[in-house]
Amino acid sequence: MNIEEVKNDLKQILTEKRYNHSLGTMKMAKVLAKIYGEDEEKAAFAGLIHDVAKEMSKDEILEYVAKHNIEMDEVEEKQLGLMHAKLGASIAKEKYHCDEEIQKAILYHTTGNKKMDKFAKIIYLADKTEENRDYEEVEELRKKAETNLDEAILYTLDFTIQKSIRNKRLIHPDTIDLRNYLLS
Ligand SMILES: [Fe+2]
Ligand SMILES: [Fe+2]
Repeated sequence: MNIEEVKNDLKQILTEKRYNHSLGTMKMAKVLAKIYGEDEEKAAFAGLIHDVAKEMSKDEILEYVAKHNIEMDEVEEKQLGLMHAKLGASIAKEKYHCDEEIQKAILYHTTGNKKMDKFAKIIYLADKTEENRDYEEVEELRKKAETNLDEAILYTLDFTIQKSIRNKRLIHPDTIDLRNYLLS
């Protein structure tokens, strides 16, 4: 599938809002890839498809997980929405025939992970800084993302963890691990 075919495919799968978010992430991934010397077209593709599994229903998620023998940890079982990362990575492989670097970037884009490479960091930050995002910290985060990937990720983790605490939401261990790793 070329990029136009993938776009048409995503238009069928995603809501208009999520589709626009995907286009925004695609654009931002390209900008960051250029700054940090990664493959711009590849980053654009990963950004475009990163949320391919985001609109799946609870039943669809469970069905996919069973069919593909995908593991779910305790936090994912309680917060099924997190699974769109693992499922997205799987769909990237099966349906769009993406390489491992793209699969990993999609796998890590929600919780973060200390195993993220530069490419995965770019996709993680593109998702959080794309032009449709309008939360309080986004302007500051955009500046940081364009100057230092690790600092930008640490900043993201700090405010997302704080929000999770305020909203009494679970925090995935990979998120804590990544923060500890970046701090030490
Ligand atoms: Fe996502
Ligand atoms: Fe996203």
